[in-house]
Amino acid sequence: MIVTAELRILLFLHSTMIEVSAIEVHTPSEVVAVNGSDVKLSCTFKSTQPVSDQSVTVTWNYRPPNSQAETSVFYYQGTPYPQEQGLFKGRVVWSGNVVKRDASITLLKVSPTFNGTYTCQVKNRPDVLGNHGEIDLKVVNKVSVSEIGILGAAVGGSCAVILVILGIIMGVKLYKRRQKEMMDIEVYSVGKSDLY
Ligand SMILES: *[C@@H]1O[C@H](CO)[C@@H](O)[C@H](O)[C@H]1NC(C)=O
Ligand SMILES: *[C@@H]1O[C@H](CO)[C@@H](O)[C@H](O)[C@H]1NC(C)=O
Repeated sequence: MIVTAELRILLFLHSTMIEVSAIEVHTPSEVVAVNGSDVKLSCTFKSTQPVSDQSVTVTWNYRPPNSQAETSVFYYQGTPYPQEQGLFKGRVVWSGNVVKRDASITLLKVSPTFNGTYTCQVKNRPDVLGNHGEIDLKVVNKVSVSEIGILGAAVGGSCAVILVILGIIMGVKLYKRRQKEMMDIEVYSVGKSDLY
């Protein structure tokens, strides 16, 4: 009997969870951006309720690396509310369209200080609970070292091949010219000795 009661409670909890957490948010888990570039933080959602520009609110927050301190990045409710101060002032634009279930934003001219975790939270009343999307942003200085290495090896390798071919051509020409000069000298000295 106890087991059945527990089971009933579990089933009850389960069904309420399904009813309540109806918002489903999707983001990539990691984004790598080059210092100074604009980067879109993609966030889409699904809701069992009808979606309108009035019913949806979008909240983007930021946590620096190895920190739990959250700061506000962006807020949307019918219209974008960018931050008026702090790191994100003038650096975030709305790239979403709530009717299309898109809550994306774009960070402008990112620098390595933008490293960290960005969370996308969507509410669509009466759907207010659900998962957050979390994106780890990594701002790198330029293309990764390994890519530069491969590029360097390719360019260096073809240069070396061209130099070797040029070297062979030059060598052959030089050799032929030497031989011709030697023959000329021989002919000249032979001719000269004939004069006496
Ligand atoms: C990132 O780029 C800016 C210019 O866009 C530059 O001033 C800054 O030094 C760069 N950051 C790093 C870590 O190189
Ligand atoms: C940002 O992340 C990149 C990639 O992990 C790292 O190379 C860089 O040092 C970080 N910069 C800061 C300021 O945390």
